[in-house]
Amino acid sequence: MKFFLDTASINEIREAAALGVLDGVTTNPSLIAKEGKPFKQTIVEICKIVQGPVSAEVIATDAGTMCKEAQEYASWDKHVVVKLPTTREGMKACKCLSEQGIPVNMTLCFSANQALLVAKAGGAYVSPFLGRLDDIGHVGMDLIRQIVQIYKNYDFKTQVLAASLRHPLHVIDCALAGAHVATMPAKVLDQMFKHPLTDVGLANFLKDWEKLPKESQK
Ligand code: E4P
Repeated sequence: MKFFLDTASINEIREAAALGVLDGVTTNPSLIAKEGKPFKQTIVEICKIVQGPVSAEVIATDAGTMCKEAQEYASWDKHVVVKLPTTREGMKACKCLSEQGIPVNMTLCFSANQALLVAKAGGAYVSPFLGRLDDIGHVGMDLIRQIVQIYKNYDFKTQVLAASLRHPLHVIDCALAGAHVATMPAKVLDQMFKHPLTDVGLANFLKDWEKLPKESQK
């Protein structure tokens, strides 16, 4: 299972990369706007740090302009993955860009039908949004499980990139379901490290060690 960080914050990406568990990064226009730095400069810098797939989202809504934006982004760095919305126009652009060898991540996927279309159009990744489905009272995990199963049934090569993860249980459930990738905010990655028994256990080991005479601590 690959771990991507869902952020455009260079600091957060550096921190996660230093942990040795970071495989890639996903951004979106909201995350880029939050950081307030130029788009191209941000994507290029992220690629340099991560040396793995970095999703950069198009702004156009028609297939022709999406393809032009995508080709430009892909020229910035070999690690750029172009993010397109899962719309009819996005699907056309997905097919065309995938045939040109430009990897595509189809975002804002909310149904198994959309995911089937993405696989048929040759997308490298599909991004079902787990948390946003939970937010409106649907079980987001059901969608992840359905897509994983459907892709297995037909041996589709598109990778399931579970997105909009909100807490560490989402990561466990995605791993159990067999999602290829989980993209998460830095906060969720941090939460994955934490267990109170680890902290208490370590404190006790160190306290007990101090009871050992200094000359025996060698
Ligand atoms: C994925 O690529 C999206 O950027 C992201 O996961 C959306 O998450 P949100 O629903 O928390 O905004």
